[in-house]
Amino acid sequence: MTAPRTFAIKSFGCQMNVYDGERMAELLGAEGMTPAASGAEADVVVLNTCHIREKAAEKAYSEVGRLRREDGTRPVIALAGCVAQAEGAEAKRRSKAIDLVVGPQAYHRLPQMLREVEAGARPVDTDLPPLDKFAALPRRRRAGVSAFLSVQEGCDKFCTYCVVPYTRGAEVSRPLGDLLDEAAQLVEGGTRELTLLGQNVNAWEDGSETLATLIRRLAPLPGLERIRYTTSHPINMADDLIAAHAEVPELMPYLHLPVQAGSDRILKAMNRHHTAADYLAVIARVRAANPAIALSGDFIVGFPGETEEDFAATLQIVEQVGYASAFTFKYSARPGTPAATMGDQVPEAVKDERLQRLQALVMEQSRRFNASKVGTETRILVDRVGRKPGQMIGKSPWLQSVFVDTDAQIGDMIDVRLTAALPNSLAGELIARNSKQAA
Ligand code: SAH
Ligand code: SF4
Ligand code: F3S
Repeated sequence: MTAPRTFAIKSFGCQMNVYDGERMAELLGAEGMTPAASGAEADVVVLNTCHIREKAAEKAYSEVGRLRREDGTRPVIALAGCVAQAEGAEAKRRSKAIDLVVGPQAYHRLPQMLREVEAGARPVDTDLPPLDKFAALPRRRRAGVSAFLSVQEGCDKFCTYCVVPYTRGAEVSRPLGDLLDEAAQLVEGGTRELTLLGQNVNAWEDGSETLATLIRRLAPLPGLERIRYTTSHPINMADDLIAAHAEVPELMPYLHLPVQAGSDRILKAMNRHHTAADYLAVIARVRAANPAIALSGDFIVGFPGETEEDFAATLQIVEQVGYASAFTFKYSARPGTPAATMGDQVPEAVKDERLQRLQALVMEQSRRFNASKVGTETRILVDRVGRKPGQMIGKSPWLQSVFVDTDAQIGDMIDVRLTAALPNSLAGELIARNSKQAA
């Protein structure tokens, strides 16, 4: 076999996987490999998988099957991400087509593992050494105007339904200095908006530094217009972070703060360490600090033992908070997690019906939120070319996509008046171009 020259990386799951996918691409690029024009043509395909919900492994194996070409050949296939971590060597037994298996904390070894594949081996690396990969990865090259920066890896919360603590390992914060360096590299490369990532990003710490102080250190970077962070846990919503939402203009008024359920009995069974009232108290503090803040969340319906009354409490907390957007999931039993073997598993039909009711409610809230912005002025970060000639698309502070006719370029900040709310976006009219420096 000749050395592979082109690659394709397909990432599933959360933003941390997207970040990992970008780092893998940079890593293979540093080896002299180039991105393939299409996945089918690539010499190497990396499937960067997610294990969070049911059939994740099955989906990954069917992706592997789809990579067979018409002439019977196939690319070198690397199974990466959280399914790789969970399946380990088992993956090689289940599919002969998988050439290597690499977990989310070991992918800095990908080039070496590809050389082992060339030599005829089928290597597996699912070690979880905290943070080793970051030191071994190349410097950040040109990234998008909006870029992710993983500041924390893993999770120690052990919610009883969740696989993440097993697939990503223990919660570890990356050191402040490394993050300031990586952020500076990204901003030099054209990034205007940074989203700091972690499974419990608001628990990030380095000595006396907290996520709030990290945000305050990043904010003055010349050219950096916006900072976001996700995902936060309600029990780690510290006062200094809430204060940053009132005091740091670069910090966007948007908070993704999952509550998962509205019933205290279910929250306890989920091992969430907070009640519905605790969550509402956090939201009240956040809104007192910055009334413009929009909320988003994650919800699970049909957790084992969830009664109609418990579910009504979820609907109620959604009503009380009023979300700009929310992700809703049917509970999915994950092998090896405590909830998978709890009694009173909820029948699928009941989960379906509850999911529909919850989705109808959050869609109505999201529609109302978008409509409430019509007639107002806001600043958007232009991040895409629109489909119509002369049209560009940008993001509002609240992560809404805004369509506007303008000759502005990707990466520009422009002021617009919002004129109409569409189902998943807004239309706007140009008022003025802008930037942090000019503001
Ligand atoms: N660390 C983040 C995100 C974890 S995964 C957090 O704690 O919020 C993203 C979301 O997937 C979770 O918030 C949860 O709503 C959902 N999820 C996790 N495990 C699940 C499961 N077994 N079934 C259904 N949804 C699940
Ligand atoms: Fe999973 Fe809970 Fe950790 Fe989030 S906090 S990653 S839901 S265990
Ligand atoms: Fe999925 Fe792993 Fe993220 S299981 S949600 S890709 S941490």
